[in-house]
Amino acid sequence: MPAQKTILRALAGETLPTPPIWMMRQAGRYLPEYRATRAQAGDFLSLCYNSDLATEVTLQPIRRYGFDAAILFADILLLPQALGADLWFVTGEGPRLSTITDQAGFDKLKPVEDIHETLNPIYQTVRNLAGALPEEVTLIGFAGAPWTVATYMIAGKGTPDQGPAHALKAENGPVFEAIIDRLTEGTIEYLSSQIEAGAEVVKIFDSWAGSLKGEDFDRYALAPTTRIITELKARHPGVPVIAFPRQAGDKYVGFHEKSGADCVAVDDSVTAEWVAQHVQPSGCVQGNLKSSHMVTGGDDLVRETRKIVEALKSGPHIFNLGHGITPDADPDNVQLMIDTVRGA
Ligand code: CP3
Repeated sequence: MPAQKTILRALAGETLPTPPIWMMRQAGRYLPEYRATRAQAGDFLSLCYNSDLATEVTLQPIRRYGFDAAILFADILLLPQALGADLWFVTGEGPRLSTITDQAGFDKLKPVEDIHETLNPIYQTVRNLAGALPEEVTLIGFAGAPWTVATYMIAGKGTPDQGPAHALKAENGPVFEAIIDRLTEGTIEYLSSQIEAGAEVVKIFDSWAGSLKGEDFDRYALAPTTRIITELKARHPGVPVIAFPRQAGDKYVGFHEKSGADCVAVDDSVTAEWVAQHVQPSGCVQGNLKSSHMVTGGDDLVRETRKIVEALKSGPHIFNLGHGITPDADPDNVQLMIDTVRGA
């Protein structure tokens, strides 16, 4: 019997002598092999829906670095596409979607049971990976949290302050809540299908959770995530869930207990010492090196990496960045981070 995978041990609450490590956006444009496969696919969305090539790019950072986890290569915006939104990517700018601003727009969305027609290739990628990964590597599936995905569906693109979603929430509560509910139900089915295909852990990305304050955070970030986790736990007991309510600040405190998440991922706006004191006592934490160190490297990278490992060594911890690695990162700096974490 091989020892249980390190990521699963940390997620079960074990304090390990060396934290397991993976990296958000580990398959991405900073890697020349990713850029080559993306060119072969034609564009980003074609890559997501080509199971063979999506499998290949998921495996690339595992081969190069030996990370402890692989994250399915896909995107949080595939679910709105599967629900009938138009989706395309503008090079150098990011995603564009058809917008929903009223009841008529909401009524055009497909029912949840129709999502699988579009998402079947994603489940095939998961099945490929379950058969292809080295036995010590954990396979993570993922989806966006309803609020974050809704911000893109309402605005039709990324926005600095999520203004259009906040406006719809204030001006047309019933339509806003109907969008959140459809996404919550769709996410349950999407993640459940990823687990059935072989995902061993799932992560819920709430990248814009920090723009919800007070009661809004509880209603639109915490509550939908809690509903998703509760349902997944009922259907798939024992499959761990990582929640990432990015920039939640004080709302990170108690998030494990309230949501039922096995692990709370934290961004780099909070210090590891603060996380050790206020969040880690509730369970496993993941994070939180600034991604800019993957661009700048050097002694600062080594010092900040050591500081995080040291601060979080008394409890369950999965080492990661505070947000995704950026295209201008140097692949050698990723190796330096890994060597530093593993004490090589
Ligand atoms: O982490 C991984 O390696 C797995 C794959 C993954 C991608 N996107 C691939 C991707 C994951 C987990 C995501 C999540 C995602 N997608 C989030 C949540 C995490 C976060 O970053 O806050 C969000 C908000 C999106 C939506 C999205 N997708 C945006 C805003 C963009 C454009 C910005 C950018 O970085 O270009 C994308 C595109 C995207 N998703 C790329 C990748 C590798 C770059 C596309 C390319 O190759 O051109």
